[in-house]
Amino acid sequence: MNVRDKFNLEKLASGKEINMDPLWLPFTPNRQFKASPRLIENAKDMYYKTSTGKSILDGIAGLWCVNAGHCRKPIVKAIQSQVEKLDYATAFNMSHEGAFRAAESITNIAPPGLNHVFFTSSGSEAVDSALKIALGYHRAKNDGQRHRFIGRQKAYHGVGFGGISVGGIVPNRKMFSSSLIPGVDHLPHTLNIEKNAFSRGEPNSGVELADELENIILLHDPSNIAGVIVEPISGSAGVLVPPRGYLKRLREICSKYKILLIFDEVITGFGRTGEAFAAQKFQVTPDMIVFAKGVTNGTVPMGGVIVNSDIYNAFMHGPDWAIEFYHGYTYSGHPLATAAANATLKVYRDENLFERSNELSSYFEDAVHSLKGLRNVVDIRNYGLMCGIQFLPIAEKPSQRAYDIFEKCFEKNVLVRPAGENIALTPPLIAEKKHIDIIIDTLKWAINSSI
Ligand SMILES: Cc1ncc(COP(=O)(O)O)c(C=O)c1O
Repeated sequence: MNVRDKFNLEKLASGKEINMDPLWLPFTPNRQFKASPRLIENAKDMYYKTSTGKSILDGIAGLWCVNAGHCRKPIVKAIQSQVEKLDYATAFNMSHEGAFRAAESITNIAPPGLNHVFFTSSGSEAVDSALKIALGYHRAKNDGQRHRFIGRQKAYHGVGFGGISVGGIVPNRKMFSSSLIPGVDHLPHTLNIEKNAFSRGEPNSGVELADELENIILLHDPSNIAGVIVEPISGSAGVLVPPRGYLKRLREICSKYKILLIFDEVITGFGRTGEAFAAQKFQVTPDMIVFAKGVTNGTVPMGGVIVNSDIYNAFMHGPDWAIEFYHGYTYSGHPLATAAANATLKVYRDENLFERSNELSSYFEDAVHSLKGLRNVVDIRNYGLMCGIQFLPIAEKPSQRAYDIFEKCFEKNVLVRPAGENIALTPPLIAEKKHIDIIIDTLKWAINSSI
């Protein structure tokens, strides 16, 4: 057989049966999935269509990313016309207009002072880039002994070695324990069901957990600490909303010791909390914001880091012919990604989607809290258009209950997200009240009939 025949493309394209064996799915029980696959064929606005013709209401905006709803015409068209004009240009020593426009639009909606953008192709790359920027910044300031990072328990910062090291989700770290980056401590997480169960919005109790930051800093001496990274609201851990005043306290402590504060807004960015970024909603300005997902409405992979001028300018030294930062990706500022970002931001603006998210959030809050009192529900947390519903675990079968509820909802044509012992909801910002009602009614049924 020659090499050309090995591709077997025509046979594959015409085959009715899909051979599932070659594909290894991420973060998925592969054997179970392949025995009973969920295949999506197309999507529009709030709905997916499966290969068996079912319409599935998307209760999680794809994966916390399709904020403007699926297959939105202006975004699709922008990508189509971009690929016909310029498919690719390297970002090393070259660039293109769309990348500059996207950077400017993103900084325009970012908190004041955050005015430079470094592009990546994913949230994980963006997290690792932010950590590298922090190290590079301190070196540029002749403060290069600052090398330690502080993350937080239960945090998800993607799957790069940097991200899992500062992250705090145990199964994501367990297999790689020997190779995590050194010099990382973790703040305690802020989940406190005993005191804060069923809080609406920010819980009242727990601001003092931020003071643990000062203890960790003083343990190592502040002169050794480079940065602190947190999700303003932990998403993948099941939507953990920060206690009132907590983020402000982190900001004060970081400023006191000249430590960079990084907000990972991969989930909370682009309208999820009712503002462009959670930083604005909580009125706390970090030194860097990590973003991804909603920046392109999930259409083309893209992420990035927004930094303040102090950080950017610190790098802009040395001979002007020399590279200032030895870091970047083949697809940093990819033309399709920036075209998608520019079109997405325009949709967000033209349809007032951040305001819409804000307006819908109180209806959403009442709806999700109506699940209180159902079987095994031990907590409900919400902020903006995101919520986590936590269940009593089944003994010796961690996370099975939430997974069962996810499967049951899918059977009834609603997509929700299992996350440990939680179900997370993060509907697209175009959701209407009737969509929220369907999601909640389906969840009620699934919770009541779950194992
Ligand atoms: C807070 C946060 N950071 C980083 C990431 C990683 O993003 P990606 O999957 O695009 O690498 C995610 C993904 O869900 C996330 O929620």
